[in-house]
Amino acid sequence: MAEFDNIPAADAPIFLVGFMGAGKTTVGRALARQLEWDFFDLDDLIEQRAGKSVQAIFAGSGESEFRRVEREALKSCSELVRSVIALGGGAYVSEENRNSLRGIGKTVWLDCPVEVCLRRISGDRSRPLLSGEDEMRALLELRGSAYAQADFVVQSGNHTPEVLAIEIAKLLGKSATS
Ligand code: S3P
Repeated sequence: MAEFDNIPAADAPIFLVGFMGAGKTTVGRALARQLEWDFFDLDDLIEQRAGKSVQAIFAGSGESEFRRVEREALKSCSELVRSVIALGGGAYVSEENRNSLRGIGKTVWLDCPVEVCLRRISGDRSRPLLSGEDEMRALLELRGSAYAQADFVVQSGNHTPEVLAIEIAKLLGKSATS
């Protein structure tokens, strides 16, 4: 019997989870390239659904509306096969989302030191929740126990996206084509 609801386990999507700046999008693109799979960024899927930017959703309707669209966009990923999806940093914090993902595919936590995340994203105005270092440390601390429930974990602070993609492919028992 297949491990996932709709598709053979070998074709089930791979979701990258972790904090803002952990490298989910860059590593996800590299992994998709290596596996010759499709790549999606959940924030892009949210923006398509809402018809506006993440920033505009937060500013106009607040975080709860953003999380509602995020839940819907995430559920729609059950239609994807042979795809790598980078989740936004808060998506895997929701228990409802974690339960949905268990039936859709495999999850990999890119565990990255907060200093590295902050160095990568400081000054980026497109992230509504980005604030000072103390607040970011506290937020990561709060989210750690959720991220730790992913199926796999890789340390993402010190390696290139290509090296991390190879590590993830191996962890998942997949062979990279490039
Ligand atoms: C968020 C992270 C963002 C985006 C939104 C909320 C979060 O994605 O989904 O701004 O709650 O951590 P990235 O992790 O890609 O920055």
